[in-house]
Amino acid sequence: MKTVLVTGGAGFIGSHTVVELAESGYKPVIIDDFSNSKRSVIKALERLLGQKVTCYEQNYQDTHRLKEVIAKEGIESIIHFAAFKSVGESAKKPLQYYANNVAGLIELFIFLNSTPINSFVFSSSCTVYGEPDELPVTEESPLKQATSPYAKTKQMGEAIVEDVTNGSEKLRCMSLRYFNPIGAHPSALIGELPLGKPNNLVPFLTQTAAGWHKELTVYGDDYPTPDGSPIRDYIHVVDLAKAHVKALDYLKNKEAGFYDKVNVGTGNGNSVFDVLHTFEKVTGVQLPYKVGSRREGDLMSTYASTKKAHELFGWSNERSLEDALLDAWRWQKTLHR
Ligand code: WQD
Repeated sequence: MKTVLVTGGAGFIGSHTVVELAESGYKPVIIDDFSNSKRSVIKALERLLGQKVTCYEQNYQDTHRLKEVIAKEGIESIIHFAAFKSVGESAKKPLQYYANNVAGLIELFIFLNSTPINSFVFSSSCTVYGEPDELPVTEESPLKQATSPYAKTKQMGEAIVEDVTNGSEKLRCMSLRYFNPIGAHPSALIGELPLGKPNNLVPFLTQTAAGWHKELTVYGDDYPTPDGSPIRDYIHVVDLAKAHVKALDYLKNKEAGFYDKVNVGTGNGNSVFDVLHTFEKVTGVQLPYKVGSRREGDLMSTYASTKKAHELFGWSNERSLEDALLDAWRWQKTLHR
C-alpha cells in the first residue's frame, strides 16, 4: 500500500486531498495539531470515504513522535500542508510565520534524512510571484519582491525544498503553486472552515449569503481591470486536491535529486464582481454588498498558465467557477454560526 503522510491533513486543502488519495489507492496518514482545523473533519472524512482514516494529533515538528509514526505506518512519501496561511495575519505575526513555515520546514528536512521517505510535495502559492508583469503567469515568470511575510515564507520554502533536493541521493520533490482555492466537496461533508472572520472572498461571501454578515465589502472597484475589481484564478478545491495525487504518481517515476515547481490553477481570470454575480446566478441568492477602499497588499490581476501541469502529469481542472460556488454554498448551508 502506498502510504502518504499528510501534514495539516485536517485543513481545507489537506482534507480534500486525503479523499482523493484514498480514492486513488493510497493510504493517507494525517498529522494535524488542530490549531487551524477541527477534529470533526476526521469523522466527516470517515463518513465520506466509508473507511477508517488514520490521524495523529500532533505538531508536525514533534519529530520524535513523527519517527514512531513513520516507522509504524511504513510511510513512503509526504505532502506538507501544515503552515500558517493568512496574508494579513502574517504582517502582524511575522515571527510565528517564519517559525512555523520556514524553521519548521528546515527541521522537517533534517529529520527526513533519518527516514526512508523519498517523495515530498510542498504546498506553495501563487503569491510567490507577486504582481505579475505578464499574464498568464508561467512557472518561469520572475518571483518578484514578496508583498507579505506569508509570501516570503513560501518563496523561502521553495528555495529550501529545491536546494535540499538538488544532489540528494534519495529525495525527489515538487512545489505546487496554488492559485485561489475555493468550493467544497460535492458531498457537503467537508469544506472550508475558517476560524473566525474569513479574510478570503468566497467564505465571506457564502457567510454573508447565509445572513452571518450584513453585507460583503468589495475591496475596490477602481483597478484598471474590465469592471474595476481585481482578478484572480479561482480553482475548485477538488481539482486542486487531484493535482496532488497526480504529482505523487509523477514523482514515483523520477530519479533522486529531481525537483520541479508547477502552477495549479484554471488558466481563467475572474473578477470579484464575476464571482459575486455568478454566485447570485447559480444560487438565486441576492448578495448584499458595498464597494469599499482597496485592501493593502492586494494584487490587481493574476491567473495561471496551466500548460506545465497538463504536460508533466496530465492534470487540468475539470470544475467550473459555477461548480465551485454551488459546492461552497451547499457546504455553507450545513454550518452553524
Ligand atoms: C480575493 C479577492 C480581494 C474578501 C489568497 C490567499 C493567499 C493565497 C492566494 C494560498 C481580492 C477580494 C476579498 C472580501 C473582497 N492562497 N475580497 N472582499 O488575496 O488572492 O489571496 O489566495 O496560498 O493565502 O489569501 O484571496 O480571497 O483574500 O481575495 O473584495 O471580503 O477578493 O480584494 O481581490 P487573495 P482573497
